[in-house]
Amino acid sequence: MAVASCDKFLRYKDKVLIVTGGSKGIGEGCVRVFVRNGAYVAFCARGAADGERLEKEMNEEAPGKAFFKSVDLTDEAAIQGFVEDVISRYGRIDCLINNAGQHPNPHLIDDITAEKFRQVLDVNLLSYFLMSKYCLPHLRKVKGNIINDSSLVGKIGQQAAIPYVASKGAIDAMTRAMAIDEAVHGVRVNVFSPGNVWTPMWDGLATDEGEGREDMIAGGTNAQLLGRMGTIEEAGLLCLWLAADATFCTGIDINLSGGAELDYGNKNRLTTKASAYH
Ligand SMILES: NC(=O)c1ccc[n+]([C@@H]2O[C@H](COP(=O)([O-])OP(=O)(O)OC[C@H]3O[C@@H](n4cnc5c(N)ncnc54)[C@H](O)[C@@H]3O)[C@@H](O)[C@H]2O)c1
Repeated sequence: MAVASCDKFLRYKDKVLIVTGGSKGIGEGCVRVFVRNGAYVAFCARGAADGERLEKEMNEEAPGKAFFKSVDLTDEAAIQGFVEDVISRYGRIDCLINNAGQHPNPHLIDDITAEKFRQVLDVNLLSYFLMSKYCLPHLRKVKGNIINDSSLVGKIGQQAAIPYVASKGAIDAMTRAMAIDEAVHGVRVNVFSPGNVWTPMWDGLATDEGEGREDMIAGGTNAQLLGRMGTIEEAGLLCLWLAADATFCTGIDINLSGGAELDYGNKNRLTTKASAYH
């Protein structure tokens, strides 16, 4: 690997990072922050256009470098192939950010099939497991770390979102189990739990509400004590801290939530929105 000399103040200089779902949203925030801090960032996502655009922009920006590949994270062979590509290109992996996920539109249990549930677990949970499995032999060599992107709703629940909430709760539990097993290799495994961060996923869910879009965005904004949604850069900066500075932390779970979980909220909706989902 040809490693360029970078500014000594860059916080992940010359280290190699993988980000899943890095073409947009929170993953994009991670790509941007780590490239700006001197890292070699390999990221994958569905589709090609967004990822290729970001890769080009990042490589013009320097001081780090970006490498994008279109990967379907429900395909184990594709995950394995991507990790091999990263190793043949950079020779090492210092950090893995498991981030790619999907949030299905709201449904109650009556309308959720076993197949749909499995699809959500495949993307949100199994891809984290498989990417970790194939990266760990390389992470162990450098005492690297894994960062899992979960969700606040894995802890506090969410209306009409059983598979999504279940997948996120499982990520939290898997993080702790993996942290225990990998400590002997010096590999740290941590998780962060976003509340509402403005991303294409959020935009898409709000758009699907139709006329309720503005109300939904206002509700999402006011859920935080800080009175706004988080930004993708704030998510990237939290991950940079976990990767670069949190060297005595493993198995921890950090809320990236603007205080959304604090204080009583309105639990009795004026309109029983759940009934609208039938
Ligand atoms: N945005 C929020 O408010 C919020 C809140 C809590 C948790 N999260 C979590 O953060 C993560 C990112 O969310 P976001 O809002 O940035 O989403 P997003 O929809 O804006 O971006 C998702 C990314 O994942 C990729 N992806 C999805 N399915 C994939 C697949 N099968 N194969 C490869 N790539 C795939 C997409 O291509 C995209 O790059 C998710 O795990 C989500 O659950 C987000």
